[in-house]
Amino acid sequence: MSAVQEVCDVVYSFAEEQDFQQVLNICSDEDLYGVDYMAVTFHRWLQEPGRLVFIARMNNRVVALESTLLVDGGQTVVLQGFRVAPDLRGHGVGGALQRHVTDYIRCHYPQVSAVRLSRGVKPPAQSPTNYRLIAKEAMLSLRCEAADLGPFVAELRSRLACQSDCPPPSPVILTQQQAETLILSDHVITNLLPNKTIINDWEPLKPMEANLEVLRRRGLTWIADREFKPTAISLCITPYAVPYRHDALHFNINIFGCSLASVCAVFLAQLEALLPSLQGYLVFYTSVNPAVWPGLHRLCQNSSYVSFHLDYYEELILERDL
Ligand SMILES: CC(C)(COP(=O)(O)OP(=O)(O)OC[C@H]1O[C@@H](n2cnc3c(N)ncnc32)[C@H](O)[C@@H]1OP(=O)(O)O)[C@@H](O)C(=O)NCCC(=O)NCCS
Repeated sequence: MSAVQEVCDVVYSFAEEQDFQQVLNICSDEDLYGVDYMAVTFHRWLQEPGRLVFIARMNNRVVALESTLLVDGGQTVVLQGFRVAPDLRGHGVGGALQRHVTDYIRCHYPQVSAVRLSRGVKPPAQSPTNYRLIAKEAMLSLRCEAADLGPFVAELRSRLACQSDCPPPSPVILTQQQAETLILSDHVITNLLPNKTIINDWEPLKPMEANLEVLRRRGLTWIADREFKPTAISLCITPYAVPYRHDALHFNINIFGCSLASVCAVFLAQLEALLPSLQGYLVFYTSVNPAVWPGLHRLCQNSSYVSFHLDYYEELILERDL
């Protein structure tokens, strides 16, 4: 069957609860290196205000999915969850679904002027030419048994203390109110956020009041190196189960700031805050400014049985006009 013929046979609709199993069928355990979030987010996405979940079907079989979240006070949609059935990838089905989605948004949400997404790439991959590059973050990914995380944190902490002449920063867990005030402050927007963009677990948002509600829904833990004029601020999602192993949990920490000492301190503070709630096996990603990645990577060399999961790769924040 030719690509054109395949795309002609596709029927588009919004996803419903009963599509769950078929949606899981288009996600392969190898996708996203074993940390696919679809099984966890699908039901939540169907209920989320401002979110549309589109699916494409061929012969009554779900073959692709894409979702949109209305953000920035309705000016932008963030694309998330793009999936095509493994046997149909590279045949134009994904591109056709993306065109359907953007046509739908253009028609039903005329106030939306831009589409934004995050995309993980291994350098030296080129940015897609039809998008503007808004920001680039570097990913450090680690995995271990949950029981090995405490010794890892202790080992890194004592190494940090030995390395520095001055005492390392003592990070603070922020209340929701403190986090919201800080993340919208000129200081954080100008000095810490990558190109004035909040990135929450692959979800790129402008720092504006209207997006706080989206962040509140995510149940984030916010930690900064200090409460006033921080040099690093971080957010971490609640860990969730992923296919990597039967008992695997995944979480993402996003850290904004270029001071290596502060980034390392909030990284360890985030892990420490999670320790009591973790069990099983952990695969966790930390997204930082590319300039601090080598230093953070060096710090994470350890003898506590925590392994690097993937090599260096980048998260590109991309945008295009609708
Ligand atoms: C990414 C995926 C959906 C692409 O499906 P496909 O049918 O092979 O898509 P194609 O290669 O035909 O490309 C279709 C479009 O998707 C875009 N695309 C490819 N990979 C993408 C990605 N990771 N994120 C966003 N868009 C992507 C392509 O640029 C292309 O756009 P264009 O038509 O404007 O050039 C598919 O490989 C897949 O399901 N992968 C596993 C899950 C995954 O990695 N999802 C993306 C991140 S959430």
